Amino acid sequence: MTTRRILLINGSYRDDGITDQVVAEMAAAARTAGAEVEQIVLRDRPIEFCLNCRHCTQHPGTEPGECVHEDGMADIVRSIEAADAYVLAAPTNFGSVTALFKRFLERLTVYAWWPWGRPAPKYRKAAVKPAVLVSSSAAPGFLGRWLYSSVKQLKMAARTIGARPVATLFTGLVADQPDKPLPERVRARARRIAERLAAS
Ligand SMILES: Cc1cc2nc3c(=O)[nH]c(=O)nc-3n(C[C@H](O)[C@H](O)[C@H](O)COP(=O)(O)O)c2cc1C
Repeated sequence: MTTRRILLINGSYRDDGITDQVVAEMAAAARTAGAEVEQIVLRDRPIEFCLNCRHCTQHPGTEPGECVHEDGMADIVRSIEAADAYVLAAPTNFGSVTALFKRFLERLTVYAWWPWGRPAPKYRKAAVKPAVLVSSSAAPGFLGRWLYSSVKQLKMAARTIGARPVATLFTGLVADQPDKPLPERVRARARRIAERLAAS
């Protein structure tokens, strides 16, 4: 069996917050299960805003387009291309993913074919690779998941890079104390999901 390469992309602002803890748990479990693991923490990467110049969307084909920015995004796209499976993580801020994750999502425009004259973009990739979606909120989990658009946006990111969601881990009630440790049941679920991803 070939080794699964799992890429975890973390859109939280906070060191050792809930997202960091979930992602660290998943990375450790996937590694133990034999996967090759790479973690990208978006807050540590230089990523410019999309200019909506559509330079990257003009050429046809399944390869990502080339962006006019020369920043940290090219390395991230290379990692996305090399991976077999993904964990996409961002906490819920004001009802949606963080602005940090949204900025990254908009730069995924390189994964769209959208020449001038065409009314709407087309995905370059079929949704094939498995992806796990991770979010959290101060609100209870069932409410946050239903009320907010975070999961919808994480799904959009997955679809854009050619992935299909296979599991979602949404943790609620995370903002009742500073430095909240990950509840044990969430930790266990994160491990189980990552082990399944490594074996898929
Ligand atoms: C600017 C800001 C906006 C937030 N907006 C919401 C919100 O709309 N709904 C909610 O339930 N929690 C909200 N929260 C709480 C965050 O979802 C929670 O702190 C986060 O999931 C923790 O993730 P982290 O530990 O990775 O930072 C907000 C927090 C901040 C700082």
